[in-house]
Amino acid sequence: MSVVGILAAAGRGERFGAHVPKQFLPLRGIPLLIRAAQCLQEAEAVAEIVAAVPPGYQELLQRWAEEYGVQKLSRIVTGGEHRQDSVRAALETPEVQRAELVLVHDAARPFATAALVERVLRAAQQHGAAVPGLPPAETIKKVAPTGEVVQTLAREQLRRIQTPQAFRREWLVAAHAHARRLGLSATDDATLVELLGFPVVVVEGELLNLKLTTPEDWRVAEALLQAEQ
Ligand code: C5P
Repeated sequence: MSVVGILAAAGRGERFGAHVPKQFLPLRGIPLLIRAAQCLQEAEAVAEIVAAVPPGYQELLQRWAEEYGVQKLSRIVTGGEHRQDSVRAALETPEVQRAELVLVHDAARPFATAALVERVLRAAQQHGAAVPGLPPAETIKKVAPTGEVVQTLAREQLRRIQTPQAFRREWLVAAHAHARRLGLSATDDATLVELLGFPVVVVEGELLNLKLTTPEDWRVAEALLQAEQ
């Protein structure tokens, strides 16, 4: 099984409100995207990493990859306007075209473990597409723009979906091409594969595999790292 990891790191982090995209900010001394890249670096099955970054950030990531020992990083591409465009740019590289499985991970998730990567890859090898997910702890309601509840969803059927997500390369390439043709957009890769009609299985995610989106998330992440010391 040959596996290439894609690191989606081309967001502008607008919700975060910093001048630099948040994945380039240091989280307890180590840039966020380097922490996320290390999740892939440490997973034995991942042979190479292709990263998508915003325009003008390639050299900086190259330098950091050397400094922090992310030796598997073999190519850096410029991402696109939306996450989907960034992943597609990475899919077009020769490194990915040689792979059997592609593992896509968000630069905003610094805590995914190598065990999680292996679990997702094993399931993708068996079923073709696999994503980590956890049942929501809270009750989830569908709400109208007026604030009125439309429906309360059955919690036991719901999962909060994370990255890393793994796919047979042909499936993911076909899903992105299909989405582009029809002008479909999605916030994760699994959705595009689902839209093509391929099955996606959910394996158990990790509670600490947080996605850092807001300054509050950042403080939680810092506290977790401090508690680990
Ligand atoms: O914007 P969102 O929180 O969904 O971003 C998830 C991940 O996708 C982040 O790691 C971000 O850097 C990446 N992304 C990207 N290209 C974009 C937008 C987001 O690689 N144009």
